[in-house]
Amino acid sequence: MASGSGFAPDLHRMTDLVTPNEFRAALGRFASGVTVITVETPAGEMHGMTANAFCSVSLRPPLVLVCIDHLAETYLHIRERRQFGVSVLKEEQEALSEFFADPERNHDAAYRLGVQYRPMQSGTPVLQNALANLDCSVVNACDGGDHTIFVGEVKEVIVAEGIPLLYFRGRYGISDGPQEP
Ligand SMILES: Cc1cc2nc3c(=O)[nH]c(=O)nc-3n(C[C@H](O)[C@H](O)[C@H](O)COP(=O)(O)O)c2cc1C
Repeated sequence: MASGSGFAPDLHRMTDLVTPNEFRAALGRFASGVTVITVETPAGEMHGMTANAFCSVSLRPPLVLVCIDHLAETYLHIRERRQFGVSVLKEEQEALSEFFADPERNHDAAYRLGVQYRPMQSGTPVLQNALANLDCSVVNACDGGDHTIFVGEVKEVIVAEGIPLLYFRGRYGISDGPQEP
């Protein structure tokens, strides 16, 4: 157990921890869905990023969490706006996942891909035609290493029918063939 105030690892113990490759190999074996986290920027533009570090937290009240890298532009926008949208992607929306993970993405590429937003009742932007949309209001945020865990209270949901986009071992879909890592 780390010394000090709680569970944060001591910096001098970092060398005892698993390597990034070991960490990715283990966590990559936890299959997940894929979401796009959306937020309105101070300039009134829609901004989105792909995230699979998303899960349910509580039923009463309805809470979810998403872990956002401190280097992501989305991190700054959520910290400022205190609201975010979640769009759960369908199997056929792999291109959207790649688009919203690309640091070089631009309006032209969004147009070519047919990216379309819709506002939830509060005005929070979400993606159209997703498997599910959630409108979240930030009720808690805490640092988790190089990410922040944003806990959001879910104000509204929209659900649709379809097959989810899955992510497993760094790839979309589930295959049991040999792969790295
Ligand atoms: C399948 C997949 C899942 C991802 N999950 C996360 C995540 O949960 N949290 C995160 O901070 N970045 C995640 N990323 C990386 C971000 O999408 C990527 O860094 C993005 O460019 C950040 O955009 P921004 O800087 O405009 O906010 C993921 C990428 C992919 C392809």
